Formats: sequence, structure tokens, C-alpha cells
Amino acid sequence: MRQIITPAKSITGSVLLPGDKSISHRYGMLASIAEGTSRIRNYSTGADCQSTLACMRALGISVQNDGDVVIEGRGLDGLREAAGPLDCGNSGSTIRMLSGILAAQPFTTVIGGDESLSRRPMERIMRPLEQMGARLEARDGRFPPLTVHGAALHPIEYTLPIPSAQVKSCVLLAGLYAEGVTVVNEPVRTRDHTELALTEFGAEVERRRGVISLKGRPRLEGRELAVPGDISSAAFFIVAAQMVPEADLVIRSVGLNPTRSRLLDFLSGAGVQVKVLDIQQSGGELIGDLRVRSSRVRGGRIDGDLAAALIDEIPVLAVLGARSEDGLVVADAAELKVKETDRIATVADNLRRMGVAVETRADGFTVPGRQRFHAAQIDSFGDHRIAMAFSVAALAADGPCEIDNADAASVSFPEFFDTLRRIAA
Ligand code: S3P
Repeated sequence: MRQIITPAKSITGSVLLPGDKSISHRYGMLASIAEGTSRIRNYSTGADCQSTLACMRALGISVQNDGDVVIEGRGLDGLREAAGPLDCGNSGSTIRMLSGILAAQPFTTVIGGDESLSRRPMERIMRPLEQMGARLEARDGRFPPLTVHGAALHPIEYTLPIPSAQVKSCVLLAGLYAEGVTVVNEPVRTRDHTELALTEFGAEVERRRGVISLKGRPRLEGRELAVPGDISSAAFFIVAAQMVPEADLVIRSVGLNPTRSRLLDFLSGAGVQVKVLDIQQSGGELIGDLRVRSSRVRGGRIDGDLAAALIDEIPVLAVLGARSEDGLVVADAAELKVKETDRIATVADNLRRMGVAVETRADGFTVPGRQRFHAAQIDSFGDHRIAMAFSVAALAADGPCEIDNADAASVSFPEFFDTLRRIAA
């Protein structure tokens, strides 16, 4: 599907975002292996989180949608062998986190997904799960589909070789099934939604200075939970507000977990006027409304642990960088290459199509500031965040832009184009 985005002069109004993708996956999986009913409000409408629910159904779990997602959990040992391979679609979070649960089952599961997912590296989860006692096979030893031969797992102490919340979560979910304490050492802090969700469902998790410990074989209990709006989706609208001459936008009920809201600190540091209006707590997570206005943006540098913290937002921040006064430098972000697309390549390709200069390196890129965006034909290359980042860039172009493969946006935000059209004039 192709979308046409016309340049805009203003962004105004208020938006409500789909439920956070990361949190939705975790609630969907944990509710399935908890005992009793869970009711989840504002579960992500994105295709990725629906893939997680489809996998849980294939493993014998009743999942209904009556406006809320209602899951009848069957306890730690209640999953049933699936009749065929599990399909995670485009979702790296689903395959990596669910494999942790599958590794402990008394059966074998084949789990894979679409073409993009089939190119993403899986050794990062295979290694720790094998250390815990499971056996995994992969195409060429590292790519999906995976065959997960479940086993009785034993706890390990594991130090993450790369900052990855998916790998941390995989090990912790497997650790639920191991008798004893599983420990994950995290030299660089990553999003902690799994730790918070585990605590909500009744597990014992402790975190001290980058060391996370989980006691195995807890009794997890079904819960009523609400998923905060996705701050990574909010990023597109915060940047959109900087691409037009006039903007005043309220983004409601956004997740403000400190491991994710470093985005707001970075943007404020770059001169973006973004204010948190009020903060509440829900399910261990922080939620608040944001008010964003168009600003004079200076630009900045993303490297070190900030690169890990902002990894999903870098495509749209690249767009902001070209618009800013001083530009954007991104380093220490080689992980961008193994996302839904090689995001160093797909960001650079689309910037250049719009006449925007960018210099790429193996671990990042530099986008000089004060550049103009020219009307162009954009390609998402099937990557949701590229589709949305360049739709935002198109708002500042000197004519209408065509976005090819725009439907990729529905992986995390099916309502994105309707929402953008409603607030942009
Ligand atoms: C996610 C972790 C990050 C992120 C992804 C979601 C999660 O991936 O890029 O979109 O929900 O844990 P990595 O764990 O590969 O860094």
C-alpha cells in the first residue's frame, strides 16, 4: 500500500496512542502462564502484539477481545503443544521472549516468522537457553525458524554481551521454570518492563546495581492491567511537531517508564518544548500526558548507553537532526543493522531520496543540520518505524511525498496515518 503525505503548516489537537508494544507482549505472555483470568486494557492493536496473542492461542490459551484483551491463564505448566509451527510475523520480541518459555516445556516447538524476522540473529537467545539445559536448532545455526526442544531447566547467572531487553527477558522468562535463582547481569541498563510485569503477576524479582535476580517456580496470578500509550509511537508526533511552523499538541496517557523516557530528556536537551503534564502509576509503570510545541531545535549526539536507550527512536531522530540547527551524530548503535531492516541503510537511503545529506558508519551516522527536505518517493522497506519516520519527514517537504509499503506502520501503530491526517493541516 502507498500513502501520499502532503506538506503541513501546523500540528494541533490531542492524540491517544496504542498501548505500548513492549509492555503488551509481556502482559500477553505472563497472563497466559499465570493462574486465572487477566483483563488487559489498551493492549496494543499493532500486528506484532497480535502475533504474540496468536502464538498463545496456538499453545492452548483462551484469548478473547471484548474491547479489553481477556486471557484465561493456565498456570506455569498449562501450555499445550501447538499443532504446527508458531508464526511470530514481524515480531522479534515475540520470538525471542516466547522462546524462553518454550525452552521449559515438555514438548518441542517450531517458531518462526516473516522474511524480515527470518534474517534476524537468534544466537543471542540460543546461547543462554542452551546453558539452562534446552536444545535449540536454527537455520544456519542462527536464524529463524527455531526448533526449541524444551527441557527441565536449571538456573544460570548470565551477563548480557549486548544491551538487549529481549535477551534479558528471554532468560528471566525461562528462569520462571528453573528451580532456584536465575541472575542476569546487565552492564548497560535496558527497559525493565519484564521485571515490573513479573512483580505485578506475583513473582519475586530483585534488582540491585545492574543485577537482576528471579526466584524460580513462583505462583503467578491473573491480574487486571492497563497498558500505557507507547512512548516510541509518541516520538513520531513529537518530531512531527518540530517539522511544521506551528504546533501545539497533547499526547495523552503516554508510558513514562524511566528506562524509556530518556527520549524526553534527550529532546528537552536539544531544545524541544515537551512538558509532562501529570504523572500516575499503573501496574508498576508510570503514565502521563505530554504537551509538545514547535521549538528551535539545536541537535545533539547519541552514543554509549543512550544509543541503547533510544535505539527504536533513532530513525525519527535522524529526521529531526536534519531539521535541527547543529545536526545529529549517532554512534555505538550497530544494533540498528539487525532491526526489522538495517536501519542505518534504510534511514540513509530515504534521507538521500529527499535530498538530505547523511554520512554513514558501521555503528551509526551523521546528519548535518539546517537541511531542506525535497518531495520524493520513499520506501519503508517493510519496516514500521521507517514508514512512520519518513511520513513525518514528508510534512516538511517542498511537495507531496509517496510512501511505498506504508502499511508496515500497522506492525506497531495501525492508526498512525489516520491520526497524522487528523492533527496535521
Ligand atoms: C524491545 C527491546 C529492544 C527494542 C524492541 C523491543 C523489548 O530490542 O528495539 O523494539 O520489548 O524488549 P533489543 O532487545 O533487541 O534491544
